[in-house]
Amino acid sequence: MSATTVRVPRGAAPTARPSPPVVRGVVARGDQRGRLLGFPTANLAVPGLDVPDSVWSGTVRVVREGVSGRYVAAVSIGRRPTYYGRHGVRLLEAHLLDFSGDLYGEVIEVRLLHLLRLQRRFPTSEALQEQLHLDVRGVRAQAADLARQAG
Ligand SMILES: Cc1cc2nc3c(=O)[nH]c(=O)nc-3n(C[C@H](O)[C@H](O)[C@H](O)COP(=O)(O)O)c2cc1C
Repeated sequence: MSATTVRVPRGAAPTARPSPPVVRGVVARGDQRGRLLGFPTANLAVPGLDVPDSVWSGTVRVVREGVSGRYVAAVSIGRRPTYYGRHGVRLLEAHLLDFSGDLYGEVIEVRLLHLLRLQRRFPTSEALQEQLHLDVRGVRAQAADLARQAG
């Protein structure tokens, strides 16, 4: 059973500003490829998350007793089709900007704020890596805004 919980608001009144999807869970061990690509990620299993396979800018809060760190992040949701076709495990992977460390076993709360693009299959790792640089550059450009929106 997964310890991940998802809060996807539905049916907000038309005049209300819709709240962003928030996913909370315990960070699982990845297969470490992210480190090799230069984009390490904190991973949550999200089999039932009602969000398409996509890439978002957002924030990650590390929920640790006595410590409350929040980071701006580039977040990917999907099966990593570049490596696994359609058969990969569906993961939420958050690359935290300006963070180095291991969050394995920690509880994190991921707030998805802006949809950047859909996840897709790249012909090579290098092509994916180039796109990741662009994604992160885009997230960094929004950083002040994201921090403000996360409250
Ligand atoms: C911002 C971001 C965007 C991503 N976009 C894609 C994508 O479009 N297609 C894809 O196959 N994988 C995508 N990924 C997932 C990478 O393939 C994955 O992070 C990498 O293979 C490392 O996996 P690991 O942490 O399980 O080792 C993305 C990851 C991040 C952080």
